[in-house]
Amino acid sequence: MAERPAVGIHDLSAATAHHVLTHETLAASNGADVAKYHRGIGLRAMSVPAPDEDIVTMAAAAAAPVVARHGTDRIRTIVFATESSVDQAKAAGIHVHSLLGLPSATRVVELKQACYGGTAGLQFAIGLVHRDPSQQVLVIASDVSKYALGEPGEATQGAAAVAMLVGADPALVRVEDPSGMYTADVMDFWRPNYRTTALVDGHESISAYLQALEGSWKDYTERGGRTLDEFGAFCYHQPFPRMADKAHRHLLNYCGRDVDDALVAGAVGRTTAYNAEIGNSYTASMYLGLAALLDTADDLTGRTVGFLSYGSGSVAEFFAGTVVPGYRAHTRPDQHRAAIDRRQEIDYATYRELHEHAFPVDGGDYPAPAVTTGPYRLAGLSGHKRVYEPR
Ligand code: HMG
Repeated sequence: MAERPAVGIHDLSAATAHHVLTHETLAASNGADVAKYHRGIGLRAMSVPAPDEDIVTMAAAAAAPVVARHGTDRIRTIVFATESSVDQAKAAGIHVHSLLGLPSATRVVELKQACYGGTAGLQFAIGLVHRDPSQQVLVIASDVSKYALGEPGEATQGAAAVAMLVGADPALVRVEDPSGMYTADVMDFWRPNYRTTALVDGHESISAYLQALEGSWKDYTERGGRTLDEFGAFCYHQPFPRMADKAHRHLLNYCGRDVDDALVAGAVGRTTAYNAEIGNSYTASMYLGLAALLDTADDLTGRTVGFLSYGSGSVAEFFAGTVVPGYRAHTRPDQHRAAIDRRQEIDYATYRELHEHAFPVDGGDYPAPAVTTGPYRLAGLSGHKRVYEPR
């Protein structure tokens, strides 16, 4: 049998929303000690979408630089992962396909399993590329995380999109076999179709996450995966950055290792920079962690990164990826820093207004106010249709 080509992440581009609410502002309004946010959960600020932004506009903003760099000739599939979908039938990726002018000879589909969806998309894309290594798959993970005002989860909201080009001979990260998998039927976090905000049992969700980490690591090692010492860094799903610390401590304990702060910081420290300023971006969060790692860590050439993707409900997957020689010429640190720095800071009253913003549902014409400075916007709703436009 012919040797299988290396397949993985060839390009990685992230975008976020127009507004930002700092945790200082949130703490000043709700009386919390800001140290609980900064140190306790590791968050400094969270992205908040403008009324003319959503998962589609962020996704198009993340994917446009990928298409500009690589063209569209080899992209035959778009997989769009989200848990804040804008339609129950039409895949959000079709709007992105249209905004970016991709060829009609493209397959587009939307995937859902809470925050795990992006990893499902990546793994499905790898399978497609193995079937035909001349093809590339655009995997997009885009989400707006929203909890009810005043709930403990409120401090862990956020919004971002990540676009990954998956192909053979990748320029950034080769994704390896095996994967370790874990599924358990738990109601730790969920969002019924009639709600715009998620329901969560916060402490139960942390236990469910750690249980899923154990289960997927166990399956990974039983299938002949690498040993703990072979990893140079760990990218965990980050509902809030301190969860990466908790997860890594848990894994070290589970493996019977001594846990020390420096070891944990060395393993996950470089993965938290973007999530700390953006908040939870659900499907995009682990890949924002990878972007931060690739953009900011010392040379990672040849180092192996462990990935733990967790989606409440719950599904988890542990897998490894190795950073490719020359990767630094293909990362996007300036773009990512600019996306975070260009956000407009809002006060608490504006945040509340945006949080409660909703278009009427009667099918009338409702233009959205022109607010975002991003490259794409939601122009409004008309006849029950969402209308998008380049800005
Ligand atoms: P909480 O009850 O507000 O906070 O909930 P807490 O009392 O647990 O405190 C949080 C941490 O801050 C603790 O640290 C405190 O000690 C510390 P820990 O003991 O855990 O190490 N703390 C302080 N530190 C310094 N100075 C202070 C101070 N006060 C307290 N003054 C919780 C926190 C995360 C549960 C809440 O925000 C929440 O419900 N968030 C939403 C759910 C969530 O993020 N779950 C994570 C796992 S599930 C997951 O990752 C999936 C998800 O992304 C969804 C999906 O899959 O789609 C959520």
